Amino acid sequence: MVKPEDGLVSARVFVDPDVYQLELEHIFASTWLFLGHESELPKAGDFVTRRMGEDPVIVVRDDDGHIHVLLNVCRHRGRKLCSEDCGNTTFFRCGYHGWTYAQSGDLTGVPFLDAYQGRLDKRALGLQRAASVDTYHGLIFATWNPDCEPLREYLGDIAWTLDILFGRTDRMEVAGPPLRWLIDANWKLPVGNFAGDGHHLMTTHGFSGALGLKAKRASRRGYSVATANGHGAVLTNWAKETAHQPYLALASEVVPELERNLSAGQRLVLRDLQVIVGNVFPNMSFLDTASHSPAEWGGPEGLDMSFLTVRQWQPRGVGQLEVWSWLLLDKSAPVPWLEASTACYERVFGVAGVFEQDDTENWSSISSALRGPMARRLWADYRMGLGVSPSPEWIGQGQGYLQQGQFWEVNERNFYQRWRELMTRCSASG
Ligand code: FES
Ligand code: FE
Repeated sequence: MVKPEDGLVSARVFVDPDVYQLELEHIFASTWLFLGHESELPKAGDFVTRRMGEDPVIVVRDDDGHIHVLLNVCRHRGRKLCSEDCGNTTFFRCGYHGWTYAQSGDLTGVPFLDAYQGRLDKRALGLQRAASVDTYHGLIFATWNPDCEPLREYLGDIAWTLDILFGRTDRMEVAGPPLRWLIDANWKLPVGNFAGDGHHLMTTHGFSGALGLKAKRASRRGYSVATANGHGAVLTNWAKETAHQPYLALASEVVPELERNLSAGQRLVLRDLQVIVGNVFPNMSFLDTASHSPAEWGGPEGLDMSFLTVRQWQPRGVGQLEVWSWLLLDKSAPVPWLEASTACYERVFGVAGVFEQDDTENWSSISSALRGPMARRLWADYRMGLGVSPSPEWIGQGQGYLQQGQFWEVNERNFYQRWRELMTRCSASG
């Protein structure tokens, strides 16, 4: 069904409900999953509701500052416990019969407890807790799997790239709640697109370029970086002949901080970057992109502008996903720069963003076109750069594949390699 060594992926993995059910069990219930950012929970009692695969969860900061991830399902009869997207509370009370749980998930209150005649053990009926919860540069992850390696180990070499994005500042915060919208597409299609598909830009986003919504000179210089556990990123430099600002066009005020926080190698890579885009397996993607910002957007006249977004491709059935898209802001930058960065994000990659809409059209078209019995016998092609070797010139961590005027699909193959490992490991065990 998946042959990453040949660059081939069966169409069935995008449309088969049985494959999807296996993914829920064997990918979403077994690996670390991204849930949000610590700045969404600044105070004790702050909570947000999210999903891990199809399972609803509550992410809550308790009075001691610890973050808990709890299955958002009442232990009495299974009603969804908390319906709000976010809020602040000292307890969660079920709307059906009133069972009440502490921030830690412990069952603390049961109406008519006497009627159970001592047979109800409240200690055994707390909300189900994630096996592990951890953060990396403020990004919150959790897993249901008690055998999962520690988060830092799971991230492995992709952490080097995440440092450039999320570790360059001590003051990164979400701009607000994530934007959310539905797409009629399988969740793996945007994942592959963000993990490594640079060559769709010229066709899919060609019109956006003509409108001046991206850099006029699309560059093909950079690296595809594939790392263990299916993570990957593409780091693209500005075209050599294009005048540009250093460090992804970040505000000059944040440069001293990033120079302190990043290693010499990370600074060197960041200096000439125009775009970093990638994916943490399975469904968290990140994008930091610089572009020429027209003055009418409120950006500094004649200067480049950039924005950083994190998104989760939340599966909702084999043929639908919900996008959760956060904009992250470095509060060390001046307010006018942050406002221009926000405007840039909204126009390009927000829910009504031009690039976003270009991409969505492709993913929903694929999911629709592959549904029939003939189409699902086809194989999707990921053979670009098959057999190419990592470059010794790459100074970062992971396997870096130099791109000079061409594109590789190594990261997509790396994703499906990991996907197959997990799916077959699980099939063997159950
Ligand atoms: Fe929650 Fe009954 S289902 S209290
Ligand atoms: Fe795109």
